[in-house]
Amino acid sequence: MNPSTEFIPFAKPSLGPEEEEAVLRIMRSGWLTTGSETLAFEREFADFVGVPRAMAVNSATSGLHLALEALGIGPGDVVVAPTYTFASTAAVVRHLGAEVAFCDTAPGSYNMDPGALESVLKTTRNVRAVVPVHVGGLPCDMDAIVPLARRYGCAVVEDAAHAFPSRTAAGMAGTLGDIGVYSFYATKTITTGEGGMVVSGNEALCARMSRMRMHGIDREVWDRYTSKKASWVYEVSEAGFKYNLPDILSAMGRVQLTKADRFLAERQAIAGIYNQAFGSHSGLVLPPSGTGHAWHLYSLRVNPREAGADRDGLIAALADAGIGCSVHFIPLHTMPYWAGRYALEPDSYPNALAMYQSTLSLPIWQGMGPERATRVAEAVLSALAGGRS
Ligand SMILES: Cc1ncc(COP(=O)(O)O)c(C=O)c1O
Repeated sequence: MNPSTEFIPFAKPSLGPEEEEAVLRIMRSGWLTTGSETLAFEREFADFVGVPRAMAVNSATSGLHLALEALGIGPGDVVVAPTYTFASTAAVVRHLGAEVAFCDTAPGSYNMDPGALESVLKTTRNVRAVVPVHVGGLPCDMDAIVPLARRYGCAVVEDAAHAFPSRTAAGMAGTLGDIGVYSFYATKTITTGEGGMVVSGNEALCARMSRMRMHGIDREVWDRYTSKKASWVYEVSEAGFKYNLPDILSAMGRVQLTKADRFLAERQAIAGIYNQAFGSHSGLVLPPSGTGHAWHLYSLRVNPREAGADRDGLIAALADAGIGCSVHFIPLHTMPYWAGRYALEPDSYPNALAMYQSTLSLPIWQGMGPERATRVAEAVLSALAGGRS
């Protein structure tokens, strides 16, 4: 790479003076932890996605843990999760002492296959919940998954870590099951550095998650400091967790939320540039698209049927050209912990394995702009043509 060439990272947060001012305001206010700013963020987020209640948490991982705990998942229970996901989707099941039944993707898709889900539900006992993951921001086929889960008496927890804002005909991804969980991790479309939001239309589940998020205490922290009742009076009714989001991060989140639709439009434009550049190339397979794609990831595939298809070589060539890439995901069933626990082989879930072996995620972030996207596209095409950019 020419030393004067700008490095294009795989992801980059879009934070401006508005976020800086919001964070400074909280720093100067003397109240850093969860308080009125977080309450406001929760209300605004709930309005945005169209649910009665949203609960801010310190990560999506915490949110998934809270969600399954609130559903009463525990030892002896089984939760169906896709193998094509990040570590935490499945790890939280084990935190509760329950077991995971993995589910394959549909051929050519990064998302859970409803047909494979049905086979798992038919053949596995004690399944209590299904956790579809909207990989890359493309909503899963929830019209098939939700009724199927209901038929087998299972709750649905959406891992919507990538899916904001993803609008479908039935509502926003994350609001289509019993509980939805979003992530505001640093690479996500809207970010608080670390953080997340849990949403549900079920009051009892919300009450449980809200209590368990704060040590199992029966009073919300801001209530303890604003209500007439003495602040030191509270009861611990459960052995809860410490999963709250502090005001200093909620302040950033509130500003980011106001920009979410602009961010989405910018990501759609970059995906459009890539699709246009790669659509007719026989060595490449475009990411699946569909209604409500949030384009958190642009996961391209090298066509495995083309001679010389070499995903790793392409990533190396892009690195040489000053372009950062990533791979989403290495399927969980190939990880030592899960492979060992359930005696799984790489080809136990052949569709997920094939997707993993051929995929790479290209840079896509708001603020990237068409020029950088065009440079990335040209570097991909040049590398495939055998050149080095
Ligand atoms: C699919 C998926 N689920 C859950 C998470 C966990 O999110 P967090 O980092 O906010 O805990 C991630 C993280 O990127 C993810 O990719």
